[in-house]
Amino acid sequence: MNALTKKQTMKVTPIKEHIGAEITGLDLRQPLEEETRQALYDALVDNVVIVIRNQQFTAPEFANAGRLFGDLMEDQNRRYLAPGEPMVSTLSNRHLDSNGKQAKVSKTATWHTDHTNQEFPPKFTSLYPIELPGGGGGTAVFNSRAGFEALPQDMKDRITDMKTANNLVSSARANVANPDNMRDQGALDGKIMIQPLVQTHPDRGSKAIWFHTGKTENILGMKPKETQEFLAELLELAIKPEFTYVHEYTLGDMLIVDNRSALHQARFDYDHTKHRHLYRLLVRGDRPV
Ligand SMILES: [Fe+2]
Repeated sequence: MNALTKKQTMKVTPIKEHIGAEITGLDLRQPLEEETRQALYDALVDNVVIVIRNQQFTAPEFANAGRLFGDLMEDQNRRYLAPGEPMVSTLSNRHLDSNGKQAKVSKTATWHTDHTNQEFPPKFTSLYPIELPGGGGGTAVFNSRAGFEALPQDMKDRITDMKTANNLVSSARANVANPDNMRDQGALDGKIMIQPLVQTHPDRGSKAIWFHTGKTENILGMKPKETQEFLAELLELAIKPEFTYVHEYTLGDMLIVDNRSALHQARFDYDHTKHRHLYRLLVRGDRPV
């Protein structure tokens, strides 16, 4: 902060008891005092997901707001970047494929955390809407730290040391994935990343269920089909309405999720003739343990 930094008065309002907070009173294009920046960071880690209201970003300004939370990392999908900002990618139901046709939009939403096939997956994912379909198309977030804590003890003991083998697209999802993305990103190169199924939060020491349904090829010691069935049963047991929040966007919302304590899911409950267009950025994380 320099002498010209104007103090911004942040207000944190919890959304639900176990998940989510709304942040008002900030303009993240303006400099933030360190004390406020730290309080914002803590609100995110405490509440798992926060929505910072009333922002007005270009793609580079959105990237700068993301840098308040750490160093940004490149999206592994380089096909759909935001104009003028290589660290921001776009999510849209109107992307074109390499033949100039409407790219495949997966309609089967799955619970996941981002980029588990990488050694250093993002600790935070942030979304900012550019155009909304006028109802639906929100982002669901599950507090998988609360979900883990509420599991029966025998299930906690069973999963705590499990490991997942991750690739870009698991064989269970290969037939519904965008073929361009698979080709661009070398989905078939066979690179496997081993990750913990239960991640310990590096800042807090808490444990959370942590996987990507569509990138988990198998849990070590289990076959792929058995793995998908087991993960579905685990989610069935762990997800409770009180641990889940569906964010329905308003223009100006910067949504940011602490991926170390959450799984998320895009909702497809909107009119697909309308444009759903969001910016996305990723904040670099540690090696999960
Ligand atoms: Fe995601």
